Amino acid sequence: MDKKTFYVTTPIYYPNNKLHIGHSYTTVATDTISRYKKMRGFDVKFLTGTDEHGQKIERAAAENGVPPQKYVDDIVAWIKDLWKTMDIEYDYFIRTTDSKHEKIVQKIFKKLYDKGDIYKGFYEGLYCAPCETFFTEHQLVEGKCPDCGRPVEKVKEETYFFRLSKYQDRIIKHFEENPDFIKPKSRMNEMMNNFLKPGLEDLSVSRTSFKWGVPVDFDPDHVIYVWIDALSNYITALGYLTEDDSDFKKYWPADAHMMAKEIVRFHSIIWPALLMALEIPLPKQIFAHGWLLFDGGKMSKSKGNIVDPKILIERYGVDAIRYFLMRDIVFGQDGNFSNEALVSRINSDLANDLGNLLSRTVGMIDKYFGGKLPLDHKGNEFDSGLIALSKKTIETVEKHMDAFEFNDALSSVWAYISANNKYIDETEPWVLAKDEEKKAELAGIMYTLSESLRIISILISPFMPNTPKAIHDQLNITSEDHKTWESMKTFGLLPKEILITKGSVVFPRIDVKKEMEELEKLMEANQEPKKEEKPEEKQPESKPEITIDDFAKLDLRVGEVLECEKLEGSDKLLKSKIKVGNEIRQIVSGIAKSFTPEEMVGKKVIVVFNLKPAKLRGTLSEGMILASEDKEGNIRLATIEGFAQSGMVVR
Ligand code: ME8
Ligand code: MG
Repeated sequence: MDKKTFYVTTPIYYPNNKLHIGHSYTTVATDTISRYKKMRGFDVKFLTGTDEHGQKIERAAAENGVPPQKYVDDIVAWIKDLWKTMDIEYDYFIRTTDSKHEKIVQKIFKKLYDKGDIYKGFYEGLYCAPCETFFTEHQLVEGKCPDCGRPVEKVKEETYFFRLSKYQDRIIKHFEENPDFIKPKSRMNEMMNNFLKPGLEDLSVSRTSFKWGVPVDFDPDHVIYVWIDALSNYITALGYLTEDDSDFKKYWPADAHMMAKEIVRFHSIIWPALLMALEIPLPKQIFAHGWLLFDGGKMSKSKGNIVDPKILIERYGVDAIRYFLMRDIVFGQDGNFSNEALVSRINSDLANDLGNLLSRTVGMIDKYFGGKLPLDHKGNEFDSGLIALSKKTIETVEKHMDAFEFNDALSSVWAYISANNKYIDETEPWVLAKDEEKKAELAGIMYTLSESLRIISILISPFMPNTPKAIHDQLNITSEDHKTWESMKTFGLLPKEILITKGSVVFPRIDVKKEMEELEKLMEANQEPKKEEKPEEKQPESKPEITIDDFAKLDLRVGEVLECEKLEGSDKLLKSKIKVGNEIRQIVSGIAKSFTPEEMVGKKVIVVFNLKPAKLRGTLSEGMILASEDKEGNIRLATIEGFAQSGMVVR
């Protein structure tokens, strides 16, 4: 029989900035569940990726002075490197700028349009032109733009709508028939009461106000607006609507979409409606976790903590970070992130509980048996309790993992680790070691501890990809058969003559006070440059080299402005009549913010004389004036020093 499939996804992240430790929470959780399901014999598909279109990205790129594609390429490379560092084993990384994705999104849009589920209309809203953002009445602050405080205008923009309202009743019915559709359940009630019951409105799904997006192929003035582009990634990654849709047939519907609570609405209402419109099944479950809070907020603006995941991993190791995220935050609830909480977790759970259990066991086998257990073992009165607890722990972990209760799964593993440390205290090996007659009993204790460590190494392996190997190396657990999930269910698989190799301490204790001081210094060093130290100017990208012949193609000449006026309907453009030698040219230029028409008249400027004429706002422009613009948008004209006569060639 074919293996059962398990398809699990993270949200696709905006590459408008580097990610912080909070973003990695979802990905670590998804990787953990995916590793667990693989160990349980599932054919797993784990999808992650990046959501690269839209105005937010377009702006971030512009602010950084690079083209959007270049901007996202760099951040996406950084993100992929982050996942590699964190041992995230995804099966597919989708980028919404992949041409395969873009083509399918266009097909989906067209399909919905042909069906009548997408229609053209007008989007009316309150628009802040400088911020290029629409707001609703109640988002305004004292009737003005909440971001910049300037007045907003009522704007009517052509847009395509998706008939979301049509699917309202079917979604409500789906919620009622599938009470586990959204986890935790409280989120489902929230969706029902705040959005579904009050009624859904059709959704604007295209924009004409920016360009960085997937064009509507049958109406290219429009780009497809975020959610259709973004949500579809979960099926375009499987080849939906392409020639090879075998993955779609195999893995869809998804078993779990993982995300934080702020995007549940899109995934539990808009996404199901889109899928219903496409007539394909809905995902089985939506898992909404809480936020990692930094000083009470979701964003990483916090100055008091290091939140760059790459720095954290460098200092504490991947396994410690992954453990902390999955252990400290109750899945579904918000949790506070602080460097101090992280370090104290590492000390108490990893260095003390787990690290000590391993080093004590290996140390005692070394000390009492010269590194190799004898064949003759004898049990003791505490064995049966510990073995029973191992079985119970495995069951509990499975139950919690199947319910995505990561922190509960880990706390039951750690209860088992503590029980083993207690077993050492109860059996008192150091007392037995003094008595030659008790060698077999002592060997039995060491064997039980080694088996426990083997089981622990398997239980933690979905969470911590590296620590199990350190345990295996020190206890010489080599056979793959002793590392499988199923193998845990037999206590006593290891050969009796355990041979240890003393290794380094898996999680060294951290001096909290010293560490906090060091982090403080690190933060100071990493802080944004102070006001008085001038930040380094962002240089524009250099263009490819050209030859002297390329340059010679440019015909630059001195021109004299004879007349100049504002171009109607624009506050940026001026229209000038410019005398160049014996020709008069009409040139439109975007300099009105810095020059009045009166100021322009009489100026000698440098004109690109052989530029192909073009229409700007419907007005013919036959050439271009050379100018430069500073950061504040002030424009200065290029001129010739000293005497310049109209018509002179500039080289
Ligand atoms: O919303 N704590 O992308 P995004 C926990 N592109 N999780 C956090 C977090 C925090 N402080 N900050 C971010 C988008 N996350 C859209 C999604 S899906 C079709 C499109 C995680 O880059 C969390 O999973 O803003 C959240 O849902 C996701 O990052 C949003 O990332
Ligand atoms: Mg977000």
